[in-house]
Amino acid sequence: MIPLLRRRPTAGQPRRLTLSILRCNPADPASVPHLQDYALDEADGMTLFIALNDIRAHQDGSLQFDFVCRAGICGSCAMLINGRPGLACRTLTRDLGDHITLAPLPYFELIGDLSVNTGKWMRGTSERLQTWIHSTTPVDLDALEARMEPAEAEAIYELDRCIECGCCIAGCGTAQMREGFVGAVGLNKIARFRLDPRDQRSDADFYELIGDDDGVFGCMSLLGCHDLCPKQLPLQTQIAFLRRKMAALGLR
Ligand code: SF4
Ligand code: F3S
Ligand code: FES
Repeated sequence: MIPLLRRRPTAGQPRRLTLSILRCNPADPASVPHLQDYALDEADGMTLFIALNDIRAHQDGSLQFDFVCRAGICGSCAMLINGRPGLACRTLTRDLGDHITLAPLPYFELIGDLSVNTGKWMRGTSERLQTWIHSTTPVDLDALEARMEPAEAEAIYELDRCIECGCCIAGCGTAQMREGFVGAVGLNKIARFRLDPRDQRSDADFYELIGDDDGVFGCMSLLGCHDLCPKQLPLQTQIAFLRRKMAALGLR
């Protein structure tokens, strides 16, 4: 097996870390949720991704967690790190104490241990909010795409950086209380398609999708989403803007 990180000799002893991990296997009726401790030596530049792989490779092959990109791009490694939603692959152990608690993101369906099914929820929300370009103009696949102003493209790209990690949902009090709430990730998607000149939906069409308490009027401005988003998306600004726009329609 290729070592994930070379342990360089350091002047002092490496820190001894203890990871307390919430274990549970919903597929096993006898499984009872419990914290299980794993100890390991910290290495230079160690992330939680590296620590968890080290544990799985050398101590416990049954430990479940998700990773794909290891670079903060795929969104699959989000978990509760000392109670706070974050990406394990972007979290350095040196920024944490020597006792670290890990738990799965709340709200999403638990697959096992630290692995949750964010994809199912994200897909359902995308279908519900119809997050694709709506155009009545027939598409000529051979024609060049219409030119977009750089500033316009940049504004769309800024919101398109969402990696669907689920941290904003896990950190939102409203989402925990209101099952149908689309959360900051859903509202951000609507903001993104509103900006897109190729999408011919009107504000009234968007109102149909988010103009209720499961949408923009359910948000209580708790701002956990804004504080926790690992991509630093401008969620606070987008939600406030959408709320003003939807309220101005005078339909409510
Ligand atoms: Fe993650 Fe931010 Fe997207 Fe929410 S808005 S899913 S926190 S990247
Ligand atoms: Fe939730 Fe963010 Fe609104 S945390 S309540 S979606 S401001
Ligand atoms: Fe892809 Fe962490 S593994 S975001």
